[in-house]
Amino acid sequence: MLILVTGGTGRLGRPTVEALCTRGHDVRVFSRRPGDGHAVGDLTTGAGLADALVGVDAVVHLATTRRKDIGQTRMLLDAMAGTGAHLVFISIVGVDQVPYAYYRDKLASEQAIESSGIPHTIIRVTQFHGFVAEFLDAQRRLPVTFVVPAWVQTVHMPEVAERLAELAEAAPSGRAADFGGPELLSLRQHAEQWQRAHGIRRPIWSVRLPGAFARAVREGKLASGLPGAGRVTFREYLALEHPERATNGA
Ligand SMILES: NC(=O)c1ccc[n+]([C@@H]2O[C@H](COP(=O)([O-])OP(=O)(O)OC[C@H]3O[C@@H](n4cnc5c(N)ncnc54)[C@H](OP(=O)(O)O)[C@@H]3O)[C@@H](O)[C@H]2O)c1
Repeated sequence: MLILVTGGTGRLGRPTVEALCTRGHDVRVFSRRPGDGHAVGDLTTGAGLADALVGVDAVVHLATTRRKDIGQTRMLLDAMAGTGAHLVFISIVGVDQVPYAYYRDKLASEQAIESSGIPHTIIRVTQFHGFVAEFLDAQRRLPVTFVVPAWVQTVHMPEVAERLAELAEAAPSGRAADFGGPELLSLRQHAEQWQRAHGIRRPIWSVRLPGAFARAVREGKLASGLPGAGRVTFREYLALEHPERATNGA
């Protein structure tokens, strides 16, 4: 199959392109930047989209601005109309439960796809292990580690990439089952494991924030429920990132 990946240069995009190639597909990456195997264009203006879609069997839409993405999704839907290609879209568990502008926009993208008439599969995924690790890494030089009371079910990005490749190969199925990690942990537990993996011992301060967003994450609305489809735990992810500590039993 010939598969176009928007956001194929991004964090999730790179392992997704790799998974698709390993499974024997021809992959075209839609990017604003030239590169090997790239179709150059811009989802904001629509430039390059028509050419990028020629002969494509499926589109895996991962591009994000981390702000308002609905315009880009609509641009893609307009360009895909009549091509017959299957659109696979990544969304986030809790977009309909957690009041947050980026999530409202994701939900709007889901709804635009569902009403477009384009054959599609939408999968909601929980936070990547790396997303929580980045939040903690940013505090590395602080004398304390701050967390908020929250329950999260983080997932290993390569497993999500593999699942996206499976979905792109399969027939369009509308909403696929949510994809979450194997454990439901508090952010405090993530911070404890992260400190151990880095050989750090510091107080962990939990800051209870006001507002509907803080309440929703406290109530676990970002979690997909157990058992999650992902297999690699946060602890195992940290060991993969820091093998020198894992072998010391740290
Ligand atoms: N972070 C999480 O825990 C999490 C959890 C669940 C789902 N997700 C979703 O996973 C997806 C991928 O996230 P990520 O962290 O891998 O993203 P990322 O690393 O920030 O990459 C963003 C990608 O979007 C592309 N892009 C941005 N604006 C574009 C434009 N105008 N035209 C064409 N391409 C454009 C970029 O391509 P170029 O720069 O090459 O043009 C880049 O490849 C997102 O939809 C995100 O919401 C994330």
